[in-house]
Amino acid sequence: MRIQQENIKTLVERKANAKLGGGQKRIDAQHEKGKLTARERIALLLDEGSFEEFDMFVQHRCTNFGLDKQHFDGDGVVTGHGTISGRPVYIFAQDFTVSGGSLSKTMSEKICKVMDMARQNGAPCIGLNDSGGARIQEGIDALAGYGEIFERNILSSGVVPQISGIFGPCAGGACYSPALTDFTLMIKNTSYMFLTGPAVVKSVTGEEVTQEELGGASVHATKSGVAHFAAENEQEGLDTIKELLSYIPQNNMEEAPVVPTNDPYNRVDDLLNEIVPDNPNKAYDMSQVIRSIVDDGKFFEIHKDFAKNIIVGFAHMNGRSVGVVANQPKFLAGVLDINASRKAARFVRFCDSFNIPLVTLVDVPGFLCGTQQEYGAIITNGAKLLYAYGEATVPKVTVTLRKSYGGSHIVMSCKQLRGDINYAWPSAQMAVMGADGAVNVLYAKDLKAVEDPEEKAKVRAEKKAEYEELFNNPYQAAQKGYIDDVIEPRNTRFRVIRALEQLRGKRQDIPAKKHDNLPL
Ligand code: HXC
Repeated sequence: MRIQQENIKTLVERKANAKLGGGQKRIDAQHEKGKLTARERIALLLDEGSFEEFDMFVQHRCTNFGLDKQHFDGDGVVTGHGTISGRPVYIFAQDFTVSGGSLSKTMSEKICKVMDMARQNGAPCIGLNDSGGARIQEGIDALAGYGEIFERNILSSGVVPQISGIFGPCAGGACYSPALTDFTLMIKNTSYMFLTGPAVVKSVTGEEVTQEELGGASVHATKSGVAHFAAENEQEGLDTIKELLSYIPQNNMEEAPVVPTNDPYNRVDDLLNEIVPDNPNKAYDMSQVIRSIVDDGKFFEIHKDFAKNIIVGFAHMNGRSVGVVANQPKFLAGVLDINASRKAARFVRFCDSFNIPLVTLVDVPGFLCGTQQEYGAIITNGAKLLYAYGEATVPKVTVTLRKSYGGSHIVMSCKQLRGDINYAWPSAQMAVMGADGAVNVLYAKDLKAVEDPEEKAKVRAEKKAEYEELFNNPYQAAQKGYIDDVIEPRNTRFRVIRALEQLRGKRQDIPAKKHDNLPL
C-alpha cells in the first residue's frame, strides 16, 4: 500500500513537472511576449475538463550537440483530444518553452498519432503552431518528421476538417503543413509565416523587410491569402476557431450540426426590392443582401480582407449550414480576378468535400483583363473556380441579382455547371458582354461610317438601347430554361430555403477516376 502511494506521488510529481514544459522562466518569457503557453491555449479552446492528454512523458532520442543531457517530458508539443461545444476534436499545440517548439522526430510522432486518430475516428484536427521549425540538432530526422506530418495532412484532406492556428513563428518548410490544411488563422503582431526570414531575404535579394512586413498576419490575411483569419489576440483567435467549427461537420460522411432558429424561413425583406440601383454602374453592398437572407443576419466571413471583390463564408439557413459565395459590387465592381477566383475556388471545394450546400449570389461584370492578370495566369486561376463549381455535387442554389456576363456568368454556378436551382431577380442582365462593348464590336463598321459626332452618338445610343432591350433582363435566359424562375427580391430568403429543402436528398456522381487533375 505504501509503495503504491509512493508510486502515485511520483506520478503526480512527474506530471506536474511535464506541465511546466521548458520551465517557469521560459513560461514567463512567453507571457512577456504577449503570448500564452500551449497548455493555456488548449484550456481556452476546449470545453472545460474535456482534455485527455497523450504522450506526456515522451522524450526526444537525439544525442547530437549535447542533447542527450537535455530532456523535457512531452518534448515541445502537447497533444490529445477533447471536445468543443460537446463535439470531439483532436489537437496538438507546440510548446515554445521547449527548444522553441522546434520539431524533433519524436515530436512529429506525437503529432502524427493525433492526426491518425482524428482521421480514423472522424473528428477535426486542430494544430496550434508556435515553433522555430525543424530542430536543428536532429538534422534529417527532423525533416523526416515534417514529411510524415505533411503526408498525413494530405491523407486527411477531404476526410476530416483540418485547422491551423499560427500563434508564434512558423518558418521554413513548416509553413507547408498549415498550407495543406483547410483553414489557417494568425494572430496580429505575434505570429508570422515565411519560408525564409528577413536576414536571409536581405542576404539573397538585398531587400530590407521586417518580420511583420514579410509574413505577419496582416500580410497573409490581405495580400497573399495564406491566412483565412487574422485575430487581434489569442483569445479572439481561439474563439474564431470555435465559431468556425460550429458551421462544419465532423467529417466527410456527416452533415454540419443543425442550429435551431426563431428566424421565420418565410421572412420577406422589402429592402431587397430597393437595393439594386437604377444606374447599372453604381455599386451596392452585397453583404447586406447576405445578412438579409440568412438566419438572424449572422454571417461568418472567411478571407474577409483578401480579394474583397468576392465574399465567401458560412451561415445558417433555416438552421442548416450553407456556404455563401457572392460577388461584391462595392469592390472592383465585383470583377473576377486571380485572387477572387483562387479564394472562391478553395472555399467551394471545402464545402463540397464536407457536404455543405452552396448558395451563390451573382453580380459580376466579367473577368479582370490586362497584362498583369494575363501574366499571372488568370486563365488557369479562373479555371479553378470553374472547375470547383463544375465538380461540386452538393446542392447548388444560385441567384443572379444583376450582371452576369460572359465567362464569369458560366463560372458563377450556372445551370450548365450542374447548378440545381438558378433564380434571377428582375434586374438580372445575362449576356456575352455589357452593352457598350457589344455595340463597339457589332457595329464598328457602321459607327466608323458615320462622320458627324452627334449622329454617331445617336446611332450608338440606338444600338445600345436595342441590345439592352434584348439582354438587360432575365427573360431570355428564363425563356430557354437556363434559369428556373424570376423571383421578387424580397422573397429571396424563403425561395432559397425552399430550394435547399427540396435538394436535401440530392445524390450526384462524377465519373470514376483515380483523382481529378484540376488546373493548379
Ligand atoms: C533548435 C531552436 C530552434 C530550432 C529555436 N530554438 N529554434 N532549437 N532548433 N530550429 C531554440 C533556441 O535555441 C532557444 O533555446 C529557444 O528555442 C528559443 O529561441 P530564441 O531564439 O531564444 O527565441 P526568439 O528570440 O523568440 O526567436 C525565435 C525564432 C528563432 C525567431 C524562432 O529562435 C529562430 O530564428 N530560430 C531558427 C528558425 C529557423 O531558421 N528554423 C529552421 C527553419 S527551416 P534556449 O535553450 O535558449 O531556450 C525548417 C525546415 C523544415 O524548419 C523543412 C520541412 C520540409
